[in-house]
Amino acid sequence: MAYLNENYSKLKAGYLFPEIARRVKAFTEAHPGAAGRVIRCGIGDVTEPLPAACREALHKAVDELGQRETFRGYGPEQGYDFLRQAIAQHDFRDHGLDIADDEIFVSDGSKCDCGNILDIFGPGNRVAITDPVYPVYVDTNVMVGNTGDAGETGAYAGVVYLPCTAENGFVPAIPKEAADLIYLCYPNNPTGAVATREQLAAWVDYARKHHAIILFDAAYEAYVRTPGIPHSIYEIDGARECAIEFRSFSKNGGFTGLRCAFTVVPKSLHGQTRGGESKPLYPLWLRNHTTKFNGVSYPVQRAAEAIYSPEGRQEVDALVDFYMENARILREAVSGAGLRVYGGIDAPYLWVRGPEGVPSWTMFDFLLREANIVITPGSGFGAAGEGYFRISAFNSRERAVEAAGRLAALDFTKAG
Ligand code: MLT
Repeated sequence: MAYLNENYSKLKAGYLFPEIARRVKAFTEAHPGAAGRVIRCGIGDVTEPLPAACREALHKAVDELGQRETFRGYGPEQGYDFLRQAIAQHDFRDHGLDIADDEIFVSDGSKCDCGNILDIFGPGNRVAITDPVYPVYVDTNVMVGNTGDAGETGAYAGVVYLPCTAENGFVPAIPKEAADLIYLCYPNNPTGAVATREQLAAWVDYARKHHAIILFDAAYEAYVRTPGIPHSIYEIDGARECAIEFRSFSKNGGFTGLRCAFTVVPKSLHGQTRGGESKPLYPLWLRNHTTKFNGVSYPVQRAAEAIYSPEGRQEVDALVDFYMENARILREAVSGAGLRVYGGIDAPYLWVRGPEGVPSWTMFDFLLREANIVITPGSGFGAAGEGYFRISAFNSRERAVEAAGRLAALDFTKAG
């Protein structure tokens, strides 16, 4: 008999984005005339072509693989030195942050890294998670057994939920109780909020006081425009002693289809054995990564390296500008329609408060039916997201403008 992981039976419904895709499919099958009109502002998936610098690097790398002299087989599991060095230098050391090349672990995505990282932490860690939140943090903790069952509101027993509300600017207050693992994501998915240096410093203090580890998701750091807002948790003194950072080339270089990301695991991080002995986490992640992963393909790593070239940087800046202009257009339309909009300034997501009393999934159905626009219902990110919806600014200009026009013309009082 093969016994299964019964934690999976605690998981609620399907993963959010497949569920949205299922509902959109059902709608377009029932209304074939509307299918061509549907504008997807749901999942944060990029639409614009890869930067030319990355495409050139890809072609060149493929040609190298086509020649016996330059052919390569398995690469180092942690990533090629050329990419680890480029990342550590340009993303960290150029900004005065002390990160070594070999503290960078290249992977095929932050989503998997966020899930896999739990392998190096023992069972029974108490997890603090913002609400609303990127669902991967919650679901992967349910899968490994760090939670109890879900209650009526969908909240899992045993999790320290950190409410993120309009009142606290979507940056949670430090909890009274202790947590062992803390998930923070800034610029935030889904609310589009950013955290100040002081706010992050308070979290670093808390983590150090409780010997906890912060799992900091910085996938959207390229979208920070406001001067002084941290791009990395390592901008905060003491973070090397308490934080792991996840970064991705998906949202800056448009690699959602190409797949490349990295995780920073400082050698100065420690965890505890049940016997009370302090041990470094680095060798555990190295062992995990090299055992379970065979590395990102050589052409893709060359394409990621090209992001740091002068041309690549310019192109990435232009891409970020492009999506942020979409965000501005959509923001104006939605606030013009009388709704309260957050985010969209330092992040590619708008977090919109629906009319009083209208549940998020009702709004999802209303927007799909009346405007043929797909959004992400706020409640899909947690109980505190109820009543909100998220609009992604990742779209072509034509579609963003069209979506803005439709949103501006809607009478939201009819949504309920
Ligand atoms: C989102 O829409 O929240 C993201 O695209 C999901 C992801 O990055 O995995």
